[in-house]
Amino acid sequence: MAGASLNVHAVAKPGDVAKESLSTLEPLVDRKVVYTFVFAALFWVVYGPWAGFFVSLKFTFPWVLSESYALSYGPLRIAHTQGVAYGWFSTGALAFAHYMVPKLCGRPLWKPGLSMAGGLLWNLGMVLGLGGVHLGYMQGLEFADFNLLSDAVLALGLILIDINLFMTIAKRREPKIYVSLWYLMAGLSWTTINYVVGNFVAALPSSTGANSAAMNGYFLHNVVGLWVTPMGVSMAYYLLPVTTRTPLYSHRLSMIGFWTIAFFYPFTGAHHYLLSPIPDWVETIAIVSSLMLIVPVWTVLANMYGTMRGRWDLLGNSVITKFLVVGAIYYLTTCFQGPTQALRALQPVVHFTDYVVGHAHLALFGVFSLWTMAAFYYMIPKLAGREIYSVGLARANFWLVFFGFLIMALMLWAAGIIQGHMLINNVDWPDTLDVNNFYWHARTFGGFLMDVGMLILVYNIIATMYWGKPSANPRAI
Ligand code: HEM
Repeated sequence: MAGASLNVHAVAKPGDVAKESLSTLEPLVDRKVVYTFVFAALFWVVYGPWAGFFVSLKFTFPWVLSESYALSYGPLRIAHTQGVAYGWFSTGALAFAHYMVPKLCGRPLWKPGLSMAGGLLWNLGMVLGLGGVHLGYMQGLEFADFNLLSDAVLALGLILIDINLFMTIAKRREPKIYVSLWYLMAGLSWTTINYVVGNFVAALPSSTGANSAAMNGYFLHNVVGLWVTPMGVSMAYYLLPVTTRTPLYSHRLSMIGFWTIAFFYPFTGAHHYLLSPIPDWVETIAIVSSLMLIVPVWTVLANMYGTMRGRWDLLGNSVITKFLVVGAIYYLTTCFQGPTQALRALQPVVHFTDYVVGHAHLALFGVFSLWTMAAFYYMIPKLAGREIYSVGLARANFWLVFFGFLIMALMLWAAGIIQGHMLINNVDWPDTLDVNNFYWHARTFGGFLMDVGMLILVYNIIATMYWGKPSANPRAI
């Protein structure tokens, strides 16, 4: 099976190494567009995760930032979650999409102005949405908290980006559509629909009570499954062959993964509301679909490990490979954790505890943020025509987020399991908080390391753009 699947992602062919080095100035890629998204993502990767740090401080020192409503727990938590999901990850993934699409299509963007306008609207929507959150104008729906005006601006931005990327793909010069483009097109189209349904239809007066919960479960899990996952997997499938210089192990596996995501993900949302007034059969479908998600995960992992065969030395030498492989290990972990959490036997223990918060970070940070960081470290030197400013700083970035996240995740899972057992054994809720206190301090410490790691990412990327050593063929670190 190996090697049979190489298609337009031709950079991976050993014979094409010279071609790759000739294209280092990336003539097909519109730097202005990509940089607009990159700078915005770098802003959000400071704003979102530091908001999380202050939210976490409030657990142990409730007086922190307690004077103003704008920075109180509710708005700040939403600023954190929306900031990292739509600000950092989404803008970062869109930056990489605008780098990857012209390269895989063998032609420049159809209308760069459309993407530029889309990117500006997307970020304007973020500012309006978060401004509203801090001032108290929000919908009260998880992950759909932004006010409707900002939602309209965000959706319009996404539609403009969709049109441009789809037209570029439609007018491509490469005959085949590489798997990254399949995932990208799916993520863009599913999410435009999901965003409108989750924000506008969910705001209709008929959407109340159990209906509203079912709708929100559908929406918020599809943000993860039909946006973050396909966009992230599309990046990983691009980066893996180019960094290992080995063809993707199996195109067929990647397609099986694609269709199983498409088939099973949309039904999983109700697992957020098990044992609730949502009909039992809906919950059962959500549980079965959640279990079936192990199929697309295995396809990505089998492909990753197949492609890495004979190239494991890169794990020691290459920072980008470290981000990719560790992200892949976390992908396996999160997709084992998710389905088991969805079982009726386990959920009563972990629901409403920190275990779930640990799981959410495992997916959005451990997998997809790590892959986005890999994408930035790969793409920016090539676009800037400069070597990375500091490999040492990139390594520091990796180890800080690696250990920081490990501390955070292990503490949250431990706290969740302990608290869950205390609650089902009828311990009073306030008493469980005393036990959690130690773990929350440790989570803040882990989060601080992660935040410092991400500050280093920002500095290293900007320094590469301006002060990196000029090079006609910057090396992938
Ligand atoms: C890019 C980095 C990050 C991502 C993608 C991320 C993602 C998330 C997500 C998805 C949630 C919602 C969890 C849920 O509702 O189950 C969340 C909540 C939270 N995160 Fe983060 N996070 C990041 C960084 C951080 C950092 C560095 C900290 C610092 C300690 C942090 C602290 C928190 C806290 C305190 C909550 C709220 C938990 C609660 O209300 O019980 N996060 N984060």
